[in-house]
Amino acid sequence: MTMMGLLHSVALAIHFLLLFSSSLFTNCLTLNDSTTTHHHECHQHESNALLSFKQSFIISKSASYNTFSYPKTVSWIPTTDCCSWNGIECDELTGHVISIDLSSSLLYGSMDPNSTLFSLVHLQSLDLSDNDFSHSQIPARIGHLSQLRHLNLSQYGETTLSGEVPTQISHLSNLLSLDLRSYIDQPFENLVINQLQLKVSTLRSLIQNSTRLEQLRLNYVSVSSSIPYTLTNLTSLQNLSFRNCELCGEFPVGIFYLPNLSSLNFAENQNLHGALPASIGNLTNLACLALGKNSFQGEIPQSLFRLENLEHLSLGYNFFEGRLALDMFLKLEMLNVLDLSGNKLSLFSQVRDVNVTILPLIQWLGLSSCNLAGEVPTWIMNLTTLSYLDLSRNNLQGEIPYFFFRLEQLPLVCIH
Ligand SMILES: *[C@@H]1O[C@H](CO)[C@@H](O)[C@H](O)[C@H]1NC(C)=O
Ligand SMILES: *[C@@H]1O[C@H](CO)[C@@H](O)[C@H](O)[C@H]1NC(C)=O
Ligand SMILES: *[C@@H]1O[C@H](CO)[C@@H](O)[C@H](O)[C@H]1NC(C)=O
Ligand SMILES: *[C@@H]1O[C@H](CO)[C@@H](O)[C@H](O)[C@H]1NC(C)=O
Ligand SMILES: *[C@@H]1O[C@H](CO)[C@@H](O)[C@H](O)[C@H]1NC(C)=O
Ligand SMILES: *[C@@H]1O[C@H](CO)[C@@H](O)[C@H](O)[C@H]1NC(C)=O
Ligand SMILES: *[C@@H]1O[C@H](CO)[C@@H](O)[C@H](O)[C@H]1NC(C)=O
Ligand SMILES: *[C@@H]1O[C@H](CO)[C@@H](O)[C@H](O)[C@H]1NC(C)=O
Ligand SMILES: *[C@@H]1O[C@H](CO)[C@@H](O)[C@H](O)[C@H]1NC(C)=O
Ligand SMILES: *[C@@H]1O[C@H](CO)[C@@H](O)[C@H](O)[C@H]1NC(C)=O
Repeated sequence: MTMMGLLHSVALAIHFLLLFSSSLFTNCLTLNDSTTTHHHECHQHESNALLSFKQSFIISKSASYNTFSYPKTVSWIPTTDCCSWNGIECDELTGHVISIDLSSSLLYGSMDPNSTLFSLVHLQSLDLSDNDFSHSQIPARIGHLSQLRHLNLSQYGETTLSGEVPTQISHLSNLLSLDLRSYIDQPFENLVINQLQLKVSTLRSLIQNSTRLEQLRLNYVSVSSSIPYTLTNLTSLQNLSFRNCELCGEFPVGIFYLPNLSSLNFAENQNLHGALPASIGNLTNLACLALGKNSFQGEIPQSLFRLENLEHLSLGYNFFEGRLALDMFLKLEMLNVLDLSGNKLSLFSQVRDVNVTILPLIQWLGLSSCNLAGEVPTWIMNLTTLSYLDLSRNNLQGEIPYFFFRLEQLPLVCIH
């Protein structure tokens, strides 16, 4: 192939592969002559470690959910430079493997507690999300990877990991993101068993050591405890998700003071209680607030309507109370999901002449049992993006256009 031909196909490959892996992009850049002069080949022992990790799994079409899944490890061939393998990124100066992205790679097999993976001590990023680990445990040796900044073992559907998250995870003091969640979108979520457990003592140690965490996502990992107040010490937190973690007790109000919060999901913990402070209006980055199916109480503060980046607000099935003008929510221009069902709220519609050409693009509107009385607010008919509407158990009069009855139920989860 000519140089131009090669560059052309590299460009095409970059364009194509960017969909899958940003680390590959970096590998392609090392083709630049000035960088290749500094570029080291993969270290032999690291190459061997990766190959034996590869051999501990088989490729199975049903091991990953993502439709773009493909077997990345097929390109892992002993005679080639491991830094050029799919999903592998090396440090340009030292040649050490610093990133492994085997997300959605159709891997099926158990995690070996003594896996050679844990000899790759220079790793800064490890993404094994969306593979099938056959209900094996997270190996304690994960704690050896002390340089890790990003660890992603999240799963679609039910987790394929089981048992206790090892306490050694708290040795990863450089972590910026930790994602152990399961994504569960089916409406039959009650059938799901939380198979991963995180002892609250491990969570406390993690909070103590990994002080720079920005992403902490533990949906469907059983913690079965109250929330450690020290969580509010992690001031860099942006995305915090503990949906269905069997948490109970008082919600530490300090969480609402974390300045950079973008997503806060504590839905479906049943016995969490607390109130929304007025200061919530200071969280200007907040895009998702999901507290549904808990025991939160008190009024919804007016300052909430200052959150102009809010896309997802689900507060359904709590004990929120007070009179609230429904039209206020139209101020939230980014709003996509609004669920206020099943509280002790009294909603009313104040404004009859809403400017219907500038409505938020609301897709999900859950207003069941909200003490709405009178006519159905006319602007609801103008929400052309709506695909789920629940106005049941109110005192509404008048007709609802027939097309609303064909709306399909969307999963009520934080999209991010
Ligand atoms: C290679 O990269 C260097 C700096 O990273 C840049 O200055 C140079 O223009 C690049 N060369 C080519 C051929 O792209
Ligand atoms: C892992 O290796 C250690 C020694 O390094 C050994 O004692 C242990 O039995 C091994 N465990 C498994 C499950 O292979
Ligand atoms: C973890 O991986 C999943 C699926 O591959 C991805 O959607 C998610 O954003 C990742 N988590 C983080 C914190 O980057
Ligand atoms: C913090 O991490 C270090 C190793 O990095 C470990 O020795 C120590 O036990 C950890 N502390 C806690 C509270 O887990
Ligand atoms: C963390 O929070 C606790 C109480 O919530 C406090 O006593 C402690 O000093 C804080 N630690 C740091 C490092 O800020
Ligand atoms: C919050 O985000 C801003 C902007 O990204 C950053 O400068 C700041 O350091 C962050 N604050 C904390 C406590 O991490
Ligand atoms: C946060 O909001 C409260 C109440 O709305 C306000 O009194 C306070 O000054 C705000 N704090 C900051 C740091 O903006
Ligand atoms: C409604 O909003 C549109 C778009 O911002 C604007 O052009 C129009 O003048 C508004 N109509 C009224 C009656 O305010
Ligand atoms: C709003 O809905 C009403 C009743 O369905 C309809 O007549 C009107 O044309 C709609 N307005 C816009 C801007 O869609
Ligand atoms: C954090 O949450 C925000 C808002 O939901 C989202 O846009 C962003 O992608 C999330 N970040 C990560 C790394 O998941």
